[in-house]
Amino acid sequence: MDLFSPVSLGDLHLPNRVVMAPLTRTRSGALGVPGPLVAEHYAQRASVGMIISEGTYPSHESRSYPGQPGIVTEKQIEGWRAVADAVHARGGRIVMQLMHGGRVSHTDITGTDRIVAPSAIAIDGSTHGPNGKVAFPVPHALLTDELATVREQFVTAAKNALAAGLDGVELHGANGYLLHQFLSPASNHREDAYGRSPEARARFVVEVTTAVAEAVGAGRVGIRLSPMHNIQGALEEDFDDAKSTYDAVIDGIAPLGLAYVSVLHADPTGELVQELRERFNGPFIVNSGFGGLTTRDEAIALVEGAHADAVAVGRLAIANPDLVERWKGAHPENEPQPATFYGAGAEGYTDYPRLSA
Ligand SMILES: Cc1cc2nc3c(=O)[nH]c(=O)nc-3n(C[C@H](O)[C@H](O)[C@H](O)COP(=O)(O)O)c2cc1C
Repeated sequence: MDLFSPVSLGDLHLPNRVVMAPLTRTRSGALGVPGPLVAEHYAQRASVGMIISEGTYPSHESRSYPGQPGIVTEKQIEGWRAVADAVHARGGRIVMQLMHGGRVSHTDITGTDRIVAPSAIAIDGSTHGPNGKVAFPVPHALLTDELATVREQFVTAAKNALAAGLDGVELHGANGYLLHQFLSPASNHREDAYGRSPEARARFVVEVTTAVAEAVGAGRVGIRLSPMHNIQGALEEDFDDAKSTYDAVIDGIAPLGLAYVSVLHADPTGELVQELRERFNGPFIVNSGFGGLTTRDEAIALVEGAHADAVAVGRLAIANPDLVERWKGAHPENEPQPATFYGAGAEGYTDYPRLSA
């Protein structure tokens, strides 16, 4: 298949297979409301096959970063409506990544009285709150009967996203955030039906995905997974355990008819990822992670080699508002500037030039 050919992921119809990866940019202020600058940023990138938004929190307690946007308050929903309208006005599509940070946070960031996770195990390390560096706290281990509340927060957030005019939602099951914390044996020491075995650790992810799919339509719901990514303390170091866990996730969600599964893994053509793809037997997006930039050659090879239906591109989509035009014509690219990835304001956000400029 040609990277520049159209593809349908459930109810999402993409004119090409270059997907803008979810990218946290922390430009939505203390109240987590995406403003006109955020709308402009995404609208500039509307010619990709589909935009996946930055990780967006479904409840105040689930916020991971200062400046991160939410989809909880009326103002946040209104802000996202303007983003979706701006992307649609330029002919694009945007789905919202719903990201519950779980223990990757601090009450200085959430403004709530607790941080939650599958188990009361802190990440070894620190994060940046609005008032500076703080150690990751020991989180409150969610009680079994609190899980339904978290699940419903995802459902409400998904409904809010679609009500705001977004084209779909992606559940963030990757990179060490809450859903991934349930999957990893390092962060999940639960003794109830959600812990102890790979199948039980997969249960919450399956339940949340099922509930969101039932609420807004499976054809508008995707999920991102990062097996054995070993980040933020969500370690998965035993191959057999990880394989069983992710097999259980896929077996649980495959019957739903989701729009797609998106996998981040250093070796997307390898056995682990490709077996998950076969098992899922539906639209599949890949990304090879943080090691090196996703290049044009890599993206073309992944799609031409039939390893994926589409490729999620991160840093080069930050740096090139016209990435698809550049890649189509094999034109040179702007270089990403990491110093402004998590900054505030327009610098390194909306000021990367287009080729035509
Ligand atoms: C600044 C930055 C922010 C990111 N934020 C998110 C995020 O919110 N959600 C997510 O799933 N991945 C996030 N990622 C990971 C990217 O989606 C992507 O997997 C990663 O950048 C590797 O792809 P690349 O080589 O094309 O950049 C982020 C990466 C970067 C560089």
